[in-house]
Amino acid sequence: MWNIKIKWAFVSLIFLTIMSACDAGLKRKKKSEALRKEMKSRELKFLTPSEIATNAYKVGDLVVKAAEKEYIERLTEMIKEKGVTYAIPYCQFNDLMLTDSLSDLYQVKIKRVSLRPRNPENTADSLESQLIDAYQYSIDQKLSSADNLQELDNGDFLLTKAIVLDQTMCTQCHGTKEQIGPKNLKLIRKIYPKDQSIDFKEGDLMGMWSIHIPRKELIEAL
Ligand code: HEC
Repeated sequence: MWNIKIKWAFVSLIFLTIMSACDAGLKRKKKSEALRKEMKSRELKFLTPSEIATNAYKVGDLVVKAAEKEYIERLTEMIKEKGVTYAIPYCQFNDLMLTDSLSDLYQVKIKRVSLRPRNPENTADSLESQLIDAYQYSIDQKLSSADNLQELDNGDFLLTKAIVLDQTMCTQCHGTKEQIGPKNLKLIRKIYPKDQSIDFKEGDLMGMWSIHIPRKELIEAL
């Protein structure tokens, strides 16, 4: 009888010891998990401003390069297959698969802005206008019109890249009235009665890419 009780006591003791060891193990695991998270958040906090800016540039550059490539490819293909007139209503900068998914991932907003836009929605705001003026100055002075990364007052970033007319393809819709031709000019004016985007020639600054990169998503994605 006693023997059985003692045996049980032993068994329970061993069981409890195992349990508490497990529990300690679990707690340790939780602790190290919490520590890992803490380390991670500290790591994030310890990112230097220049590291954050470097990453903002990388993200913005990735999105704009994808956008540029996808957009030009779509436009070139459409013109080749169906002609310039057909392509005009499709020149809006949207429905680009890769660009949209990258923009969603980092919550990046990408625009093409100009001081003389075709679509008034693409009018540069005051900061953007200053940047376009600066690009124009650099081009006039034959200086480099390199990309510009600005940190905004709220800590977000604005990456801009000059858009220079560098392909004859563009003059079919943005060149002189003769280059555009009466039929296509009429269609452009019908869709965009306030169009100002003509008379550009090769080497002219047409505007710029303007990419807004929110700081929060950028840091979370690191
Ligand atoms: C088939 C005609 C067509 C061709 C070719 C074309 N564009 Fe456009 N472009 C348009 C139209 C239409 C818009 C207005 C899109 C919108 O509603 O946002 C536009 C808008 C733009 C804008 C935005 C500012 C604005 O004026 O609204 C830029 C910048 C631009 N084009 C540059 C270019 C460059 C550079 C090329 C050559 C690589 C090019 N375009 C080729 C028709 C064209």
